[in-house]
Amino acid sequence: MPSHSQSVTIIGTGSYAPTNIVTNDDMAKFVDTSDEWIRSRSGIGARHFAATDETTSDMACIAGRRAIEAAGIDRSEIDLIIVATMTPDMPFPSTACLVQSKLMLPNVTTFDMQAACSGFVYGLSVANSMLLSGNFKNALVIGAEKMSGILDFEDRTTCVLFGDGAGAAVLTATETAEKVGILGALGGADGSAPSLLQQPGGGSAMPATNESIAGRQHFLKMNGKEIFKSAVRVMGQASTDIIEQMGYSPEDLNLVIPHQANMRIIESLAKRLSIPMEKFHNNLDRYGNTSAASVPIALDEAYRAGRIQSGDLVLLVAFGAGLTWASTLIRWQ
Ligand code: UT7
Repeated sequence: MPSHSQSVTIIGTGSYAPTNIVTNDDMAKFVDTSDEWIRSRSGIGARHFAATDETTSDMACIAGRRAIEAAGIDRSEIDLIIVATMTPDMPFPSTACLVQSKLMLPNVTTFDMQAACSGFVYGLSVANSMLLSGNFKNALVIGAEKMSGILDFEDRTTCVLFGDGAGAAVLTATETAEKVGILGALGGADGSAPSLLQQPGGGSAMPATNESIAGRQHFLKMNGKEIFKSAVRVMGQASTDIIEQMGYSPEDLNLVIPHQANMRIIESLAKRLSIPMEKFHNNLDRYGNTSAASVPIALDEAYRAGRIQSGDLVLLVAFGAGLTWASTLIRWQ
């Protein structure tokens, strides 16, 4: 009797970025900064900003629709929807519910995943487990953010770093001769220093008041230097742990898709793994940091550019506010 494995594979990807492209020189027109500073410190050259009336769910829907089209399945076959975001349309209902309705998807299990920039990679891990349980067949996992809505344009240390967009993947559970698709996933968190990267106002700890608004507490706040140090550490650990756990070495990797936060963080990851930068797919220069959308946008871009072939070993790795981190190793099928 031939043995079979239960595998979860990505059968379609999609992405979307708003049409409004804002270059570093554009930013320098209203913030005390320069193209030279932003590029040399972060690797960012431009970002997309959504229109005022364009929501996170709007962007998520376009990326989701594109992923379903690429997967070649009917939308009625989706039975799990996860939207990773820290900039939902509203605190509730979930952005995933809004996506379900706008895309006319079935009335299925639908929820948001909040793990900041690690959200999409966390979402893949959760979808993988739910599909392997046998209770679900096809999952739509989306990472979508309207970061421009929570940026403080009076704070040059943060507002130049982020952008808006969405990326999506359709995952399916199948019987395969040997294990392919998602080989393994891990996630971690350290919530001991939440103030390093947070949006302090708007929750139960600091409901909106005139004072909280006047104090600019509803915008993103970040200690960039400390986050940088943690990012270098956890991106390296999350990568080496998953590679080792699955019985591989870094040189087995065909492509790494890291969270797009800072080119210097990505370069230090390449150094730590002793693999060349050519094995990384980066689009930081054109998108900035799109938080939970960054890995799925880069994944979709890399796949459509022919950088991922069937049989390739692909590592996705992310970190974000929390602190959170997550990695997924995929044998692309
Ligand atoms: O998804 C997770 C998110 N976040 C991250 O991954 C961020 C991680 N951290 C970083 O990427 C980097 O720490 C930054 C890019 C945020 C900053 O780079 P840095 O090399 O750590 O710069 P710094 O904060 O030490 O700032 C250096 C100088 C300061 O001036 P002084 O005090 O040396 O005179 C800042 O005031 O650069 C100044 N500065 C700026 N100058 C021009 C800060 N922001 C800007 C700016 N334009 N936008």
